[in-house]
Amino acid sequence: MRIINVMAASLDGKIAGHSLESDRERRDYGFTNKADQEFVRHQLTTADAVVTGANSLRASQGAWQVPNHKGRCATWVVLTRTGLDPSLRFWGQSEVAKWIVTPSPDLVIPADPANRLIVIPPTENPATLIAKDLKDAGYEKILLFGGGHVNRLFYEAGLVDELFLTLCPLMLGTPAASSLLAPPLSKATHFRLVSSNNVGDLVFLNYTVNKAL
Ligand SMILES: NC(=O)c1ccc[n+]([C@@H]2O[C@H](COP(=O)([O-])OP(=O)(O)OC[C@H]3O[C@@H](n4cnc5c(N)ncnc54)[C@H](OP(=O)(O)O)[C@@H]3O)[C@@H](O)[C@H]2O)c1
Repeated sequence: MRIINVMAASLDGKIAGHSLESDRERRDYGFTNKADQEFVRHQLTTADAVVTGANSLRASQGAWQVPNHKGRCATWVVLTRTGLDPSLRFWGQSEVAKWIVTPSPDLVIPADPANRLIVIPPTENPATLIAKDLKDAGYEKILLFGGGHVNRLFYEAGLVDELFLTLCPLMLGTPAASSLLAPPLSKATHFRLVSSNNVGDLVFLNYTVNKAL
């Protein structure tokens, strides 16, 4: 199983102007572009699951519904402490299996065979347990979609294998902006560059994580 972090960041390392900013808003003000959205869509065509944070899901309101090479949509794994509003479009996406991961024992999610609630001890890094469950499910390609808080959990546990980073031609500079990685990490993560290319002013970088360092 491979866990692949797929992110677009500004030149000052930010992924959104604020924590509930949607992909569409970012595209509209020139953070990302069509090529980047197509790149993400392409990644989803071979993905078994997507892992993301509650704010990212609140911002998008729902999952990307892209059938993969096995003819089904990726399972969406969402981390939350406070839960996801029942009115979110996400809950109506019947083709998307949903795993909700939380340390909150009282959390309730809509009853549906496609929905799974995973309660984890608050002292554990949820990334470790999520990775184990994904592996046990036979999943092979996992996309880690952020945001910065969820990225931190996976990098801290040494679980990320690869990073696709789209570098976007702006500096946000806003105090409320979300970061590619919300500190802290107990040690630096090192990468090896696999490829780089540009489409217009956006640079598409592919790194593998150097787990030896
Ligand atoms: N540019 C990009 O490539 C990219 C990629 C992803 C996201 N984004 C954008 O980034 C923004 C969101 O990023 P973000 O960093 O602010 O937030 P995030 O990582 O998406 O979500 C943070 C939330 O995750 C939950 N969470 C964090 N740690 C947890 C834990 N240990 N256990 C259970 N739940 C946990 C909490 O949910 P509760 O609030 O429920 O407690 C927390 O508020 C959005 O605007 C999104 O569109 C951009």
